[in-house]
Amino acid sequence: MNEELRPLTELAEKLLIGHYSRHVFLCTGESCAAAGVGEAAWDVLKRELKEKELSLATGPDACYRTKVGCLRICRGGPILLVYPEGTYYGGMTAERIPEFVQRHLIEGQPIDERIFARNPLPMGAPDS
Ligand code: FES
Repeated sequence: MNEELRPLTELAEKLLIGHYSRHVFLCTGESCAAAGVGEAAWDVLKRELKEKELSLATGPDACYRTKVGCLRICRGGPILLVYPEGTYYGGMTAERIPEFVQRHLIEGQPIDERIFARNPLPMGAPDS
């Protein structure tokens, strides 16, 4: 291993990176939603993932979360993106987050009426 990268590897291990089934990106930028709306949704997403034991977890529903400044849609937000399905949700305000966590992340049933685009990524590790 490159010794320069060892602290990062140790941090990644603490964050359980390598054990997640999904990665959720939520935009808190102010071009897709009014100031504070994305941050309020982010707070609920963090709370829900923690309460449902999906965050900093292992198992089939383990989910990593990332707050981002822009997903290049810049309207109709907050925009939320789930990988590996590549599911783009619009209008994901704080009050819609609990249903999203329950239906998509736990039950595996995306909420079609809030999805405006899909870009699934291939599953699995690259050849080494
Ligand atoms: S600011 Fe949210 S998608 Fe660009």
